[in-house]
Amino acid sequence: MSKQSRTEPPVKWWQNSVVYQIYPRSFMDSNGDGIGDLPGILSKLDYLRELGVDVLWISPIYMSPKADNGYDISDYVRIMPEFGTVEDFDRLVNTAHQKGLKIVMDLVVNHTSDEHSWFEKSRASKDSPYREYYIWQEGKDEGPPNNWRSNFSGSAWKYDETAGLYYLHLFHQKQPELNWECAALRQEVYDIMEWWLQRGIDGFRMDVINYIGKDPGYPDGPMGPDGLGDFSAFAVNQPQSHRYLQEMREQVLAKYDILTVGETPFATVADAIQYASKDEKELNMVFQFEHVELDYAQDKSKWSDSSVPLDALKHTMNKWQTGLHEKAWNSLYWGNHDQPRPVSRMGNDSDPFFWEKSAKMLATCLYMMQGTPYVYQGEEIGMTNFPFKSIDQFHDVESINAYYDYTKNRGITPETMLIWMRSKSRDNARSPMQWTSGKNAGFTIGEPWFAINPNYNRINTEAQSKDENSIYHFYRRLFRLRKQVGIITHGDFALHQPEHPQVFSYLRQHAGQTLWVACNFSQHQQSIQPPHLPKGAWNFLLGNYLSKEENQTVLPLELKSYEAVVFLHNALGEP
Ligand code: GLC
Ligand code: CA
Repeated sequence: MSKQSRTEPPVKWWQNSVVYQIYPRSFMDSNGDGIGDLPGILSKLDYLRELGVDVLWISPIYMSPKADNGYDISDYVRIMPEFGTVEDFDRLVNTAHQKGLKIVMDLVVNHTSDEHSWFEKSRASKDSPYREYYIWQEGKDEGPPNNWRSNFSGSAWKYDETAGLYYLHLFHQKQPELNWECAALRQEVYDIMEWWLQRGIDGFRMDVINYIGKDPGYPDGPMGPDGLGDFSAFAVNQPQSHRYLQEMREQVLAKYDILTVGETPFATVADAIQYASKDEKELNMVFQFEHVELDYAQDKSKWSDSSVPLDALKHTMNKWQTGLHEKAWNSLYWGNHDQPRPVSRMGNDSDPFFWEKSAKMLATCLYMMQGTPYVYQGEEIGMTNFPFKSIDQFHDVESINAYYDYTKNRGITPETMLIWMRSKSRDNARSPMQWTSGKNAGFTIGEPWFAINPNYNRINTEAQSKDENSIYHFYRRLFRLRKQVGIITHGDFALHQPEHPQVFSYLRQHAGQTLWVACNFSQHQQSIQPPHLPKGAWNFLLGNYLSKEENQTVLPLELKSYEAVVFLHNALGEP
């Protein structure tokens, strides 16, 4: 195993850090009110340190009426009391820093809550300086200004009696879009960022940051079967978004050595190269969405029970890995608070053996690629989708709105919609973290705000920390390997045997070394040819069948159910 050699380019700290996402409501409750909180996170810092992560990204903890679980913010510089106080926050940052962990905050500035004081002042008077903080328009033909559909169903415009105008909301009607054309608004955002940076935070994850620039003509989008139009060609990845991000970098980001990651739905490789270029004009990296939309329905709606086709997954990952190499920087994720659980979505949670093997296989497949790894809470123990039985068990506004829209307006039966929601709803990721096999999985001593997944008896951190062969320990080994083997950070990427129907295999090459990763996405045995390389020595680095003591020397041509293997090849004459 090579240490970093002199030929390797210098690495930024955020390029070889592992980021762990915390959804605070569902992470750990310290005071028995059933809601996770900041002291709860504090009490788990040692667990996170042990796991081998470097950075914690904390989903919103600001004041919020909770129309979208905190992504609707009514005060950016106050912490919602149910999460704790600003003293709790400072203590969390300081203690995290002492333990070598960094803290990244969620910056949600494409929209606010309609209960933010800016919006209240904006709607109240046309002479208020706040009027232009939001996007207000006259209606057209007794209806909204254009046909855009909100991401959370229905029109993206809402008529406001007080203002006598429509305002734009690409998400919930309680999430009015901010008007980034307004220089005073942009300055407010930069001040808020400074406020948090002064408290010592280490970066921002920027919510739908590629929505901030809008086509000023607000044209109708291509119409769907529901009579509403798709806004994405006019409100996403516009040149204005790049301008605003460049200004944000000059005004704020350039002064700090922090991690910035933009959430950018619909971004292409070309867009990402602009957002996350190596010369750091805008952001460090983005979250692209192509690989988490491969199981969408034909009409591009997420609601369906289709599964992810492996050939498309390989094609997409290959496109991003090769497309950004040496130009920009990838983020690596399967899941987050908006996605169903990866092991249920792309692995196999139907049986404990397949569950364990496929969770490890998926982690290997992703985390041996180039980019910064992200882990969403619970993935490291293979948490699964939730067995929803009825609509009353859902909390997520997107899911609930879609249920009524599809069953009332689109002729889908409630039974079908429930099946689709069970596989795709964001709520799958939001059931509480499973810590122990005790009451409420150790998440709370009170009544949890969201039901505990009934499989907590089998799937919890306590059991897995004790078991060397658990998914949890496998994640630890993967993260350690990333730190020890430079090629995982530096190597290029090429698919190997791309036409194989069940195996995702790829090569990473750098300075005379080759990393070979082969992952069987099926429950049946599969044959795979080793790559043809110049004479050299193969070393087995990791696999989900062999224990770490067994040093495999013969290359496997037969991969067992969901088997994943990682080998390192050194060409002769190389160290
Ligand atoms: C992002 C968040 C999601 C939220 C939406 C609106 O996509 O990840 O949870 O609903 O933005 O803020
Ligand atoms: Ca609490």
